[in-house]
Amino acid sequence: MQFSALSAAFTIALVSATPQYGEGSISSWHPAGPNDFRGPCPMMNTLANHGFLPRDGRNLTKANVVKGLGDGLNFDPTLAGIMWDQAIIANPEPNATFFTLDNLNRHNVLEHDASMSRSDAFFGNNHVFNQTVFDTTTVYWTASTLDAKQLTNGKLFRQIDSRASNPNYTFTASTENFSVGEVAAPIIVFGDMDAGTVAKDLVVYFFENEKLPSELGWTKKADPVTLDNIMQVSSIIANATSLFTGTSSEHTVTKRKDLHAGLSF
Ligand code: HEM
Ligand SMILES: *[C@@H]1O[C@H](CO)[C@@H](O)[C@H](O)[C@H]1NC(C)=O
Ligand SMILES: *[C@@H]1O[C@H](CO)[C@@H](O)[C@H](O)[C@H]1NC(C)=O
Ligand SMILES: *[C@@H]1O[C@H](CO)[C@@H](O)[C@H](O)[C@H]1NC(C)=O
Ligand SMILES: *[C@@H]1O[C@H](CO)[C@@H](O)[C@H](O)[C@H]1NC(C)=O
Ligand SMILES: *[C@@H]1O[C@H](CO)[C@@H](O)[C@H](O)[C@H]1NC(C)=O
Ligand SMILES: *[C@@H]1O[C@H](CO)[C@@H](O)[C@H](O)[C@H]1NC(C)=O
Ligand SMILES: [Mg+2]
Repeated sequence: MQFSALSAAFTIALVSATPQYGEGSISSWHPAGPNDFRGPCPMMNTLANHGFLPRDGRNLTKANVVKGLGDGLNFDPTLAGIMWDQAIIANPEPNATFFTLDNLNRHNVLEHDASMSRSDAFFGNNHVFNQTVFDTTTVYWTASTLDAKQLTNGKLFRQIDSRASNPNYTFTASTENFSVGEVAAPIIVFGDMDAGTVAKDLVVYFFENEKLPSELGWTKKADPVTLDNIMQVSSIIANATSLFTGTSSEHTVTKRKDLHAGLSF
């Protein structure tokens, strides 16, 4: 009884003393509540579920995003800041100082067709994880260690499927650039950036649970992830996205200029 009184007092003190932001951890993961915003990005949702980003999915200021991507994933502050700069257009208000995860749902602003794990807006919900859609992507993830070819095969299937079935299918050069970054992202966060590979179980767990795969042995990168890292993995993905065969330099993609693009997310 004493314990529970103490514990209740302690909890109250903790709640009033704890700021809403910046108190994330691997162990404090829990799914979104009914009033929390979530969006089309499995990683932004994941970081909010861990409290590395505001759990309510709101007030994604530059400071909050730089801290969240740093604490959760060891992204370098410059890189995280660039990613925020590219994402702030998601908030339709002029001169906005934050965006929300709900803002990311706006179709054809950052969110686009042919996602690996979400349905096209034309068919309904463009941001909730969709197991049926994801299962069509993972058909192409046939090895326990995914490489660029396996990942891009799944993505190319999603593009073909959407192009064939969605009469309003939209996929521009800018969408392509964003998509390259999204396909590269699992290698960057969970994989081996030099080899361009990633363990399939980590990636599937992440998508399906919107949780960092610590219980499968994952830890964040020891060295900060930089823009150069993103460029390098994105060029491997961009190359593998080509339907040409061979190693000819004709289709070797060099550095991405548009970031949210080569880096996209
Ligand atoms: C400022 C940070 C970020 C923003 C604003 C952001 C935003 C977005 C948005 C709007 C999408 C939806 C695109 C679509 O329609 O598929 C997306 C997808 C995605 N993002 Fe992020 N993202 C961020 C960081 C990250 C990071 C750090 C990762 C690392 C794993 C990541 C992984 C992904 C993946 C894998 C997808 C593709 C989902 C799919 O195709 O189903 N994102 N992101
Ligand atoms: C939003 O986050 C900033 C930190 O970037 C914090 O100072 C501010 O109080 C937060 N605003 C709200 C409404 O929670
Ligand atoms: C946004 O910022 C620009 C440049 O500082 C300024 O001219 C404009 O009035 C601002 N708009 C609003 C709605 O605050
Ligand atoms: C998942 O996506 C499929 C294909 O777009 C769609 O028919 C289905 O309604 C979606 N499921 C949910 C739960 O949104
Ligand atoms: C339909 O396509 C147009 C043109 O690409 C686009 O602006 C609009 O957002 C799309 N709507 C849906 C629901 O896909
Ligand atoms: C580019 O793709 C081709 C064909 O898939 C592959 O043989 C080659 O090794 C790739 N080059 C790079 C630099 O990744
Ligand atoms: C897409 O990326 C390529 C390669 O960096 C770049 O040359 C091109 O301008 C980008 N296109 C768009 C529309 O952002
Ligand atoms: Mg989408």
